[in-house]
Amino acid sequence: MKNFTISALFLVMGSCILNAQSLKSPDGKFEMNFQLKAGVPYYDLKYQGKTIVEDSKLGLRLLKDGDIKFASEIETLAGKGKDLDNGFTKTAEKYDSKNETWDPIMGEKKSYINHYNELAVTLDQASNDRHIIVKFRLFNDGLGFRYEFPEQKNLNYFIIKEEDSEIDLPTDMKAWWLAGDYDTQEYQTQTSNLSEVPAKWPTSYDGNASQTLIKNAVQMPLMLKKEGKDQMYINISEAAVINYAAANLELDATNFKFKTHLTPDGQGAKGYIQTPAVSPWRTIIASPKAEEVLASKMIFNLNEPTQYKDTSYIKPTKYMGVWWEMIIGKSQWAYSTANNVHIGITDFSKLTPNGKHAANNIKVKEYIDFASANGFDALLVEGWNTGWEDWFGHSKEFVFDFITPYPDFDIKMLNDYAHSKNIKLMMHHETSGSATNYERWADYAFKLMNKYGYESAKTGYVGNIIPRGEHHYSQWTINHYLRIAEKANDYKIMINSHESVRPTGLSRTYPNWVAAEAARGTEFEAFGGNNPDHQTILPFTRFIGGPMDYTPGIFQTKLDYYFPGDTRFVKTTLVKQLALYVVMYSPLQMAADLPENYAKHMDAFQFIKDVAVDWDDTKILSAEPGDYIHTARKAKGKDEWYVGGITDENSRNFTVDFSFLPKGKKYEATIYADGDDADYIKNPQSYKIYKKTVTNKSKLPMKLARSGGYAISVKPTK
Ligand code: NOJ
Ligand code: CA
Repeated sequence: MKNFTISALFLVMGSCILNAQSLKSPDGKFEMNFQLKAGVPYYDLKYQGKTIVEDSKLGLRLLKDGDIKFASEIETLAGKGKDLDNGFTKTAEKYDSKNETWDPIMGEKKSYINHYNELAVTLDQASNDRHIIVKFRLFNDGLGFRYEFPEQKNLNYFIIKEEDSEIDLPTDMKAWWLAGDYDTQEYQTQTSNLSEVPAKWPTSYDGNASQTLIKNAVQMPLMLKKEGKDQMYINISEAAVINYAAANLELDATNFKFKTHLTPDGQGAKGYIQTPAVSPWRTIIASPKAEEVLASKMIFNLNEPTQYKDTSYIKPTKYMGVWWEMIIGKSQWAYSTANNVHIGITDFSKLTPNGKHAANNIKVKEYIDFASANGFDALLVEGWNTGWEDWFGHSKEFVFDFITPYPDFDIKMLNDYAHSKNIKLMMHHETSGSATNYERWADYAFKLMNKYGYESAKTGYVGNIIPRGEHHYSQWTINHYLRIAEKANDYKIMINSHESVRPTGLSRTYPNWVAAEAARGTEFEAFGGNNPDHQTILPFTRFIGGPMDYTPGIFQTKLDYYFPGDTRFVKTTLVKQLALYVVMYSPLQMAADLPENYAKHMDAFQFIKDVAVDWDDTKILSAEPGDYIHTARKAKGKDEWYVGGITDENSRNFTVDFSFLPKGKKYEATIYADGDDADYIKNPQSYKIYKKTVTNKSKLPMKLARSGGYAISVKPTK
């Protein structure tokens, strides 16, 4: 018996060795091993000889006859829903590598380096006469892998029941996590060990118009840390989610093991795939240094270059908005006091104006004047169009038509006025979650924008998605966002989407989809608050996939200024708001506060006026998720640097080392610092501004208040 076991073991080992392939990163630090064990594909990942991902299974299960309503369709499919996770033999392996640089249209650096070694393994499922390819790319900052489904007779069209890609960690790790959800990532981040996630599982969440929690799953990008000896930061995410559902990660908290969990549609199906097709990349960025996770461009490298013929209309945009006053409840989007009125087809004269409609000719002109006087590019105006009286949280397909202005918003006059002052209005398309309705109107809406000279649209998907049963992250809805981006490109329009799926590096392929919200933004400071560590986490999570329209810049942080007795407040100092323009990368940045609040602090506002939003270079000076981030960036095409540092609820000291500056040159640094008595609760508006001459040898000690920061502009001395 014993002998039998040993020879059986040798047999298994022998087949492992035969089937095993390994791949190293260009710098040799990472090693990935692929193998088939009894016909099932596995991979692992090592960093400098230490396992950071243990043997983890790969594969997909397909829908079978009887699984969903239209079973008869599946019945006719080749392979009849046989799973793609077993019975494989390896029939080919192909190694490749690439080392190139490419220039993003807008980005954190002028050029990104795309340097990797690749292994593509062809796996044959002889029993069903079909094959798939698993492709691995190993970079100096981590691993990406995906499934490829070549066109073939017995794998022509199939429906995914689940993708079961595992990421099995060897130990417990500290995690910055959001509960899994098919519809929203507008949650506060939780910080705990993975083993504690089930106990900390939320039983309720602060309100969100649409949420569908997935028990014991967490969202991506997920940030992890192994503390102590062999310190390691790991970021798990995905890249290039196209024609495929976005994934959450199911957690086995006893074994520290994740498995992909795709977003279903209303039928429970998770993807309708016509070959040839590829899955999104599953990504594992890893480094002993948190700064290197922030600096990684792997997700963008795993996206394809754009096919757009003309990208000249895509440009950095700094904007203000008729917005925050509605968010805090001072003004309204709606024009009249009516409820449940489909105002688009109603005679306005029958409606009583509510007197709080912000998107009116007089106010919009005032905002234009202020934005223009301070060098902004654009002004967002929300509540300009009819429909808001018709939207009371009910699921209704046709709420907005995106083309009918309210009677007090003169679309021609206001655009002409804005253009005469070098400002473009930013369109607002709140879809009320009705993606079908938006697709119906999109051509009319974009034509209207072209007619009046709008360059960008902020879209929004508040509420449950229509078609009913779809989720914000399901395959259909993901394709909807992409259809809108492509259509907007036909009209040379930039898109900034809210409540859409989190980005997965798609700004490379769809560069006019310049930013998205897709996380808990500044608006939540008015809806229940963001924790003081929130902004020190987001760059490690949400921003890993691309720019976020966080909407920073609130100077009047305490809302009792507007409503006596109101206890709501933005949980940062004023100066931390300035630092966010540097720490949070987006080529589209808002100055979200009201002009009257900036007017009171024009000296501090100068930083927002000066700061660039598109960059030649970025240096992450120091960072720790949940604690602090210090970033320096060089403005695109200019000899100017901007430095920003932020902290969580703890005050901290940090010495800015200016060695990033070129040698032998003098610069004038304007330093915006928390006042000595600044504190995000007691004294958020205390700040000081001073100047210093700096060179690349300078070191500048900074003191950050609780939930405070600093911002520095660095320009050549005159
Ligand atoms: C939620 C968006 O995040 C916010 O920016 C917008 O003002 C409202 N929806 C209304 O569309
Ligand atoms: Ca939102």
